[in-house]
Amino acid sequence: MDLADIGVTGLATMGRNLARNLARHGYAVAVHNRSHGRTQQLVKEFGGEGTFVPSEDLAGFVASLKRPRRVIIMVKAGAGTDAVIDQLAELMEPGDMIVDGGNAHFEDTRRREAALREKGLHFVGTGISGGEEGALHGPSIMPGGSKESWEALGPILQDIAAQVDGVPCSVHVGPDGAGHFVKMVHNGIEYSDMQLIAESYDLLRQALGATPAELAEVFREWNRGELDSYLIEITAEVLDQVDAETGKPFVDVVVDQAEQKGTGRWTVQSALDLGVPVTGIAEATFARALSGHPEQRAAAASLAGPKLSGVEGRELVEDVRQALYASKIVAYAQGFDQMAAASKEYGWDLDLGAMATIWRGGCIIRAKFLDRIRAAYDADPQLPTLLADPTFAAALETAQESWRRVVTTAVRTGVPTPGFSSALAYYDALRRDRLPAALVQGLRDYFGAHTYQRVDKEGSFHTDWSGDRTESPA
Ligand code: 6PG
Repeated sequence: MDLADIGVTGLATMGRNLARNLARHGYAVAVHNRSHGRTQQLVKEFGGEGTFVPSEDLAGFVASLKRPRRVIIMVKAGAGTDAVIDQLAELMEPGDMIVDGGNAHFEDTRRREAALREKGLHFVGTGISGGEEGALHGPSIMPGGSKESWEALGPILQDIAAQVDGVPCSVHVGPDGAGHFVKMVHNGIEYSDMQLIAESYDLLRQALGATPAELAEVFREWNRGELDSYLIEITAEVLDQVDAETGKPFVDVVVDQAEQKGTGRWTVQSALDLGVPVTGIAEATFARALSGHPEQRAAAASLAGPKLSGVEGRELVEDVRQALYASKIVAYAQGFDQMAAASKEYGWDLDLGAMATIWRGGCIIRAKFLDRIRAAYDADPQLPTLLADPTFAAALETAQESWRRVVTTAVRTGVPTPGFSSALAYYDALRRDRLPAALVQGLRDYFGAHTYQRVDKEGSFHTDWSGDRTESPA
């Protein structure tokens, strides 16, 4: 029997589609699933697309692979992943590779990579973005792990990944948990992107009284310009959808409580540890949390709001477009800052321009805009913030008056726009010459003798607040 080039275990939608993608690219794919019925179903339905080598149990699956063995695990992230890894590790040999293609937490990936390295196995925590369609037609693939594993896996992953201008949307991200970290930040940015889109829709609908169908047209128009992206494109589709049962706009029959599987929350938790202000992602995550408290929302429903409920003027549409673009620049700048900080903290040596490159296609946040980010890091790999890149700085300058009007309109009409407002606050804070952090330092010194530094001399100082208020070196 011919041995398979690569194996996939876990054949739910994502795993199945990834296996099909591999087979369609000419790889002989070993396939396995805990319940064999799924494996049989895959071979029955899609066997004609390429070479599948089905196995009923893991031992047979491992035995059906060429050496060094390459196995992709596509199971739900969590304890189940550890169980599959343990079983596989028992059956595999030094030099073999286990690729975890789920949304695992990067700390779990670091732990698993270290444990398997002890056994001579390569563990490749890999972010895969693009949903079911991406898995089948070309996702963005973000593998971590050793350089050796990249040598053996890279060509295959680049082959099945999305391609933009002939460039595959997959690179070796970095060691151990780097791939899953980058995927986590991708998802955090995805949260932020969606929140900003939702605020744009909400403000235009509330302030202008526009219908979802009219707003679908607005998003379609926006998708022809600098906002051109998958999420804007599908926003138009969702807003255009009419519920067959009631004839109402689809968005009006969906319960307004956004769920999450956790990657957005992880992004914010990690950002807090790294000390990176990812306010856009945090606001998006908290906005989901707020939406999920119907009891509090009901209790607050009768609280006073502004008299003004709507405003005239189609110019708001262009203002919102500008605010969305500017806030998006901020959200991405923050996400890239977080990757830079993690790179330093964990010694990953991330190439930020390459991350922008592999997000240009296949993934959920794919957008024209990522070309600009790539260009910014090409021009200056050490860029301290994307906001300082001349192209983005100019875009922010163009947008800022509109952005301020949008936040003002939102505040005046009582439409919550935490994404727009916090992005603007971040922009204004970052460009400030002096921040009120000086006062915070003074207060800390007053109540806790935490000391402070001066603008005009070296060292730390303390003022004797409860005594004669003289200053002394700390
Ligand atoms: C992707 C998506 C994918 C998933 C999100 C949804 O890149 O393909 O991000 O990973 O759809 O995890 O996340 P929430 O359920 O947390 O919104």
